[in-house]
Amino acid sequence: MDALPDLTDEVLRIAPLARAETIPSSWYTHPAYHEADRRVLFERCWQYVGHRSRLDGPGAYLRAEVAGHPVVVVRDADDRLRAFYNVCRHRGGPLVTQDCGRARVLQCQYHGWTYRLDGALRGVPRFDRTELFDRKDHGLVSIPLATWQGLVFVNLDEAAAERTPLETVLDGIAERIAPLRLDDLHFHRRVVYDVACNWKVYVDNYLEGYHLPLVHPELCNVLDVRAYVTETFPFYSLQHSPLREDDTRYNTGDGQAFYYFVFPNIMLNILPGRLQMNAVEPLAPDRTRVIFDYYYDDVATPEARRRIEADQAFSDRVQQEDIAICEHVQRGLASRAYDRGRFSVECEAGVYHFQTLLKAHYRTWRAAQPAAEPPAPFEPPSSHA
Ligand code: FES
Ligand SMILES: [Fe+2]
Repeated sequence: MDALPDLTDEVLRIAPLARAETIPSSWYTHPAYHEADRRVLFERCWQYVGHRSRLDGPGAYLRAEVAGHPVVVVRDADDRLRAFYNVCRHRGGPLVTQDCGRARVLQCQYHGWTYRLDGALRGVPRFDRTELFDRKDHGLVSIPLATWQGLVFVNLDEAAAERTPLETVLDGIAERIAPLRLDDLHFHRRVVYDVACNWKVYVDNYLEGYHLPLVHPELCNVLDVRAYVTETFPFYSLQHSPLREDDTRYNTGDGQAFYYFVFPNIMLNILPGRLQMNAVEPLAPDRTRVIFDYYYDDVATPEARRRIEADQAFSDRVQQEDIAICEHVQRGLASRAYDRGRFSVECEAGVYHFQTLLKAHYRTWRAAQPAAEPPAPFEPPSSHA
């Protein structure tokens, strides 16, 4: 990995919010941070892949990309959910190429090796003359998987998954949103947005209501901005606000809007009878994919369908406003005019919390790096076997 600029003791120091500076602009723009974020954060934290209801019955599968790695989640013959790299052990071919579906076995789409739903290699055509080959050594590579309220997550790092189980990360959310339970909701659809900014710009923007009056005047009619509160927890933060009493679109009584951000890239936007789940995925230093998965308590009645249509049209307008401002900010961060900024204590505790966790992960990672040694000189192989 290339050297990371501005990864200094001074930057990594955690100052109190009122005195803190934002992370340096290089963390948003330098290509080395794109690779480092993947290794330091995305390959070590729980990542959302979908909902249990989309994996109904043996053989049902979902394809996903996690930290840039192809992954397949499948329900096996014993009704157990499993996750594997979607990578054949022969020469790296894909087992599934559709986003979702149902399969009796997982068959590689390249030369047809077949794997059982529990990952064991079963069929290996035309391999009789290959020596010292044992199918048992070539099963699919599995990935730790956990579910919470019907939402399915994977963690590419086994040790990290064990050290910090999913329920520890999300501890306290279920109690807070009760009586709403997310497993009772139905998946409606996925919408994907590509945004020309670094993923951290998108996350920072999500984590404050400071920008609402100027960027989202319409949203201010739904939320009571003055009552907007941010709370922080070990692995997530929560912004919440009572819905305005005169809003009939969402408020069905004592409605609350909960906006959970789970470090480093998951958002749970919870309104009465509705969950909109976001996963923020880095594509390049200055490109990000944001997944919106919509879930509702009722997706069938004509009245519900009208509400869903209005909900998603409104979400899309808000998202377009966020995209426009985030893309401007990315250009601002890349300009020579900017390096580091400051926080509003009143409005930006969520951004500060995110950046503090970011620094903590980088500090831990840096401490675990071996001291740099000069690379060994290249030696060509002396003969061919
Ligand atoms: S790569 Fe899968 S069968 Fe060849
Ligand atoms: Fe916004």
